[in-house]
Amino acid sequence: MIRLGVNIDHVATVRQARRADEPNPVWAAVEAELGGADGITFHLREDRRHVNDRDAESLRRVVSARLNMEMSIAPGIVRIARRLRPTQCTLVPERRAELTTEGGLDVRRFQRRIAAVVRALQRDGIETSAFIEPRKDQIAAAADCGFDAVELWTGRYAHSRRPRQREAALTELEIAVVEAGSLGLHAYGGHGLTYRNITPVASIVGFREFNIGHSIVSRAMFVGMREAVREMKRLIELASRRHVALIENEQLSDAR
Ligand code: PXP
Repeated sequence: MIRLGVNIDHVATVRQARRADEPNPVWAAVEAELGGADGITFHLREDRRHVNDRDAESLRRVVSARLNMEMSIAPGIVRIARRLRPTQCTLVPERRAELTTEGGLDVRRFQRRIAAVVRALQRDGIETSAFIEPRKDQIAAAADCGFDAVELWTGRYAHSRRPRQREAALTELEIAVVEAGSLGLHAYGGHGLTYRNITPVASIVGFREFNIGHSIVSRAMFVGMREAVREMKRLIELASRRHVALIENEQLSDAR
C-alpha cells in the first residue's frame, strides 16, 4: 500500500490571510483522516507564515495517523521537533522569498550539519526523511547521513509541459526510486502532484508515500476535505493495483 500524507499548510495560509481563527488546520487534519489519509503533513516555517507553534502542538495531540513535520535544520526548529516528537521529520530547504519549498535540500553540501540533526531526531525515536532532487549524488548523501527515507522532488515531472520532458522526468524518478531502495532508503514523493498527474507517478514500483497539499486543499474547497482525500487515495490505489497486475501478468508469461 502506498501511503498518502495530506499537507494542510494551505488551510493555515487562508486563516493567516485575515489573521483570523478560521479555517482551522487541525480540523482539516481530522477531516483528512476521516477521508482516509495515512498521514498529516505540515511545515513549521521559521517565519511561521502559515502553521504556527500552537497548531503544531494541537496536531500532535489530535492526529492519530502518522504526523510528518517538514522543517529546516535551524536549531530552534530542531528543538521544537524534538519536543513535539512527530512520527517523522522531513528536512527541507527553506528560503524566505519562496512561495513554497522550491527544489530539494542540498544534502551533499550541508552533510555534516544534516547528519547531526538526523542522529538527534532518531535518538528521540523520530523517523527521518530528506526532501531531495531525484539525483544519484543526493540519494547517496542522504544514505551517508543515515536518513530512513528520501522524499523525491516531483516538481520537474509536475511542471513539464512537453510529453518528452515528462517521460524523461518520470524515468529519472523511476531510477531514483531503485537507487534509494538499493541503499536501504524508503522512497517517497511530493511536490506539484495533482489529480491529473498522479497516476503515472503512482504507477512507479517502489514508492511508499506521497505528500500532497495544494491540489487536495484546492479540491476540498468544492467537494470537502473528506471527499477530496478519498478521491486522491482511490487514484493512488488504482495506479498501484495496476502495476501489481502488470507484474503478475509478466510472472505468468515468464512461467509459461
Ligand atoms: N513535500 C514537501 C517536502 C513539500 O515541501 C511540499 C510543499 O509544502 C509538498 C510535499 C506538497 O507539495 P504540493 O503542495 O505542491 O502538493
